[in-house]
Amino acid sequence: EETKTFRLAVIPGDGIGKEVIAAGLQVLDHIAEESGGRFAFEKDTFPWGCEYYLEHGKMMDEDGVEKMKGYDAIYFGAVGFPGVPDHVSLWGLRLAICQGLDQWANVRPIEFLPGVPRRLNHPDVDTLNWVLVRENSEGEYSGIGGRNFAGRGPGKEVAVQSALFTEHGCERIIRFAFELARTRKRKRVLSVTKSNAQQYGMVLWDEVFARVSKEYPDVEAEQGLVDAVAAHFVLRPEELEVVVASNLFADILSDLGSALAGSLGLAPSANLDPERKAPSMFESVHGSAPDIAGQGIANPIGSIASAAMMLSHLGLEEEAEQLNRAIAETTRQGIMTRDIGGTHDTAGVTEAIIRNLAAVK
Ligand code: NAI
Ligand code: MG
Repeated sequence: EETKTFRLAVIPGDGIGKEVIAAGLQVLDHIAEESGGRFAFEKDTFPWGCEYYLEHGKMMDEDGVEKMKGYDAIYFGAVGFPGVPDHVSLWGLRLAICQGLDQWANVRPIEFLPGVPRRLNHPDVDTLNWVLVRENSEGEYSGIGGRNFAGRGPGKEVAVQSALFTEHGCERIIRFAFELARTRKRKRVLSVTKSNAQQYGMVLWDEVFARVSKEYPDVEAEQGLVDAVAAHFVLRPEELEVVVASNLFADILSDLGSALAGSLGLAPSANLDPERKAPSMFESVHGSAPDIAGQGIANPIGSIASAAMMLSHLGLEEEAEQLNRAIAETTRQGIMTRDIGGTHDTAGVTEAIIRNLAAVK
């Protein structure tokens, strides 16, 4: 039988991005070896990020987005480091790729892993899990706005930051959320806006949600305002299943969700082009964590679980599930990094996950 080769573009980025991507690649290499020649990963690593910026004046090559198109998937660490303004690093790399390749669905599962100390006092904490679907192409991150309008002068500067909501953009992400809900235990979608205060874009979102929900009578549809939903995450998390929200709101809610589950370091994500015209990008939710970078203590689980989402996207469903079981077995054994109360380092957790792959087969 012929070996199926998947071409991966690897962008470690900055800070702990490099450390957690190295961990993830170690796991992926092991999984490919164990496949007995069924599949292999061919990896190209791109040195883009803040160091690259300080040397070349840009976060990535001019034709960087174009270069990505030749790959089956992109495995991404994190960007951002002191010395380069965060809006420069974020727009120059991560947002440039997500928006340039129209990876319009950002999927962020919230998993409560066994053995992880709970931040949430809830009777059914072990069975909680839900998934955030983040609109990833427009909304508050449309980049529309400006500064230094003529004639204002010092001390009177004005800045405008606009959010863009299109019917097409709202419809595709809402539809995606309903389709996803059909594959999950509880068939339920909660849509999050702030349409009482944001009377244009978010009212459009609400209207599209109401219209699309009629096509999914088998899925329960609910709407909430983002402030109330933040409280809902803490007070009634057992009701959550698929939560769909705008770019900014889902960004904030996903950090809240992953912190409730134990740590930002645990949360994986997938930036999907569901139509598969372009490669999708897989990355942990967390940033480059300059406060712990270079110490070898970053939690690799967010990045390794993102690799599992990548395996699933590439059609390696069994391997993806096996990897998720190995992660859960590792935390269940108490092999964890400091952010979740453990004493192990990045390498120790990674090696344990690799060991456990065989145990959970
Ligand atoms: P951050 O996620 O990097 O860190 C927040 C806190 O969580 C820190 O105390 C950090 O040590 C901890 N943490 C994060 N990941 C961890 C892990 N894997 N293991 C253990 N602890 C972990 O967010 P912060 O500090 O707001 O931003 C730092 C830089 O990262 C900034 O430049 C920011 O722009 C960038 N950033 C990049 C993102 C991306 O590339 N997708 C996403 C979020 C932030
Ligand atoms: Mg974020």
